[in-house]
Amino acid sequence: MCGIFAYLNYNVSRERRYILEVLFNGLRRLEYRGYDSSGIAVDADLASSTSSSDGAPYAGVPPLVFRQEGKIENLVRSVYAEVDEKDVNLDAAFSVHAGIAHTRWATHGVPAPRNSHPQSSGAGDEFLVVHNGIITNYEVLKETLTRHGFIFVSDTDTEVIPKLAKFVFDQAHDEKGDVTFSQVVMEVMRQLEGAYALIFKSPHYPNELIACKRGSTLILGVNELSGQNSGKPFHDVKALTTNGKPKELFFSSDLCAIVEHTKKYLAIEDNEIVHIKDGSVSVLKFDKDKEKPASVQRALSVLEMEVEQIKKGSYDHFMQKEIHEQPHSLTTTMRGRLKDGGILLGGLKEHLKTIRRSRRVVFIGCGTSYNAALAARPFVEELTGIPVTMEVASDLLDRQGPIYREDTAVLVSQSGETADTLLALDYALENGALCVGVTNTVGSTLSRRTHCGVHINAGCEIGVASTKAYTSQIVAMAMMALAIGSDQISTQARRDAIISGLSSLPRNVSEVLKLDVEMKDLASSLIDSESLLVFGRGYNYATALEGALKVKEVALMHSEGMLAGEMKHGPLALVDENLPIIVIATRDACFSKQQSVIQQLLSRKGRLIVMCSKGDASAVCRSGSCRVIEVPEVADCLQPVINIIPLQLLAYHLTVLRGFDVDQPRNLAKSVTTQ
Ligand code: F6R
Repeated sequence: MCGIFAYLNYNVSRERRYILEVLFNGLRRLEYRGYDSSGIAVDADLASSTSSSDGAPYAGVPPLVFRQEGKIENLVRSVYAEVDEKDVNLDAAFSVHAGIAHTRWATHGVPAPRNSHPQSSGAGDEFLVVHNGIITNYEVLKETLTRHGFIFVSDTDTEVIPKLAKFVFDQAHDEKGDVTFSQVVMEVMRQLEGAYALIFKSPHYPNELIACKRGSTLILGVNELSGQNSGKPFHDVKALTTNGKPKELFFSSDLCAIVEHTKKYLAIEDNEIVHIKDGSVSVLKFDKDKEKPASVQRALSVLEMEVEQIKKGSYDHFMQKEIHEQPHSLTTTMRGRLKDGGILLGGLKEHLKTIRRSRRVVFIGCGTSYNAALAARPFVEELTGIPVTMEVASDLLDRQGPIYREDTAVLVSQSGETADTLLALDYALENGALCVGVTNTVGSTLSRRTHCGVHINAGCEIGVASTKAYTSQIVAMAMMALAIGSDQISTQARRDAIISGLSSLPRNVSEVLKLDVEMKDLASSLIDSESLLVFGRGYNYATALEGALKVKEVALMHSEGMLAGEMKHGPLALVDENLPIIVIATRDACFSKQQSVIQQLLSRKGRLIVMCSKGDASAVCRSGSCRVIEVPEVADCLQPVINIIPLQLLAYHLTVLRGFDVDQPRNLAKSVTTQ
């Protein structure tokens, strides 16, 4: 978990104040990845000194390092207070400067300044590291380094990395004299096990930065300032190694943090080392069996994202914005894909025949992404005729459940970086299944490692609670099911009806969003409740699970989604006049069964809130003794897209009314990159 960020300006004068703000802003964009502590390292004024008079390894001028517990704004306040106290010149200008930054979601060690990053090699901060991921062999490394006299001050796994770098540096220096920054980092990589994206800064190598990765995502952003108005446009990293033009370079865990600076980026691949020196960028491929890394030629990509996507605009919270932008996000999910009455999914085209021949489809995901797959299960089964089984990624791994070469594994993940889902992907690949990715994140590990897939194109989702990605995932999987089943004549009419339902879905979503005020009113009536149950079945079992998950994670209210068919087998015992229960009873093949569930609950004096199709209020609640939410009726299999929206609004308003943090709920982070 965690977010890492770095900023290096070359041949362009930037004041320290500006550099600090770029780093803080980068962290603000990444804060959703972890928000229990943060830190930065910037250069002291004499950072360009590089040699010492006695020829001994020269530790240069120690950087200024700041670490703070709590949200980014705590760090910002404490940095400005400290620079003021220490008389650090905020107007000092640097023509080259390398700064690094980190926002943390604690895994090893409680949130505290000493456990925050940058983690240090020790006195003089000769090596500083920001890290996203987990080092699995840190205990062994720590033991060895302790034997060599290193003193550990944090509880983190990360601290071994800068200390190992210093150990390698000192040894190499004693043996050979000179050692380059990339040689040090390569040797460190040789010894690390686990998942990581790392950025190194060292006063031994002033004005240089090195980043490398294995597992966790890392992006290089490039803004060549003179290239914007003059000269040839640059397309690849090689072009950047040969010119001395002023530029700004960024490392980031996520594209969201660089979009306001540049659209040119490189998604760094596993085992690549990116070294920035004298404004030049070189990419090296690390291979633990080879002494020297190979130099790699990489093309830069162009980011298709607008700055507005990462701003709240007129909304109070990202979650609120993302709920309300669903008519738009669903339109972009479908853009160019509903073609001539059929479905065109470029990322699946070549594999449709193989998928049709599969013995079963195995859906794999976590949290909301699992729920989206569960919502898709009935129509995938119906339209393709292929049996579908559901797997929570961690449970599949715990059980080492059977996956076969004849299976198609569909891995669903908004971020494309969830550790459990990626490990399940590795497992499915090892077992020979065809692996299909459904993700919102272009260039993510999931989209790179699967055989084929569908990007849901919902746009950047920043609120920790997933909302628009959920509805776009369902729609992407509906299109996938339609494409797989497109060879079946018997279901043509059904497919036509669903495609027409997809076309009008954004309009219906706009309609259901008008329930906002009503949901706020419902939230105020539930504000003091301790618990909430949500009953669904059929297409809307997933809606019940997802609605309850939203309430649980942001409003911090106990909430359970349940299969209505299971009500009689236990949950009925909970029913009384106090416990609020939402029953989803929109029109589909299960409608009459839900009517009878409502009657059974009412006869036990249950406190009911019924979600039904427009015009059905009296049919679902004859006695008028329950509260009703009426939603537009759409094709039955697309109804979950509509039905989840009032529940998202309810969760949002409950959270605001209860005074909790909407976008950064307690203890959570957006992308769970650790097991
Ligand atoms: C809930 C939520 C989480 C994620 C889960 C998987 O609102 O966001 O449950 O759905 O952590 O994340 P992704 O989809 O990125 O794999």
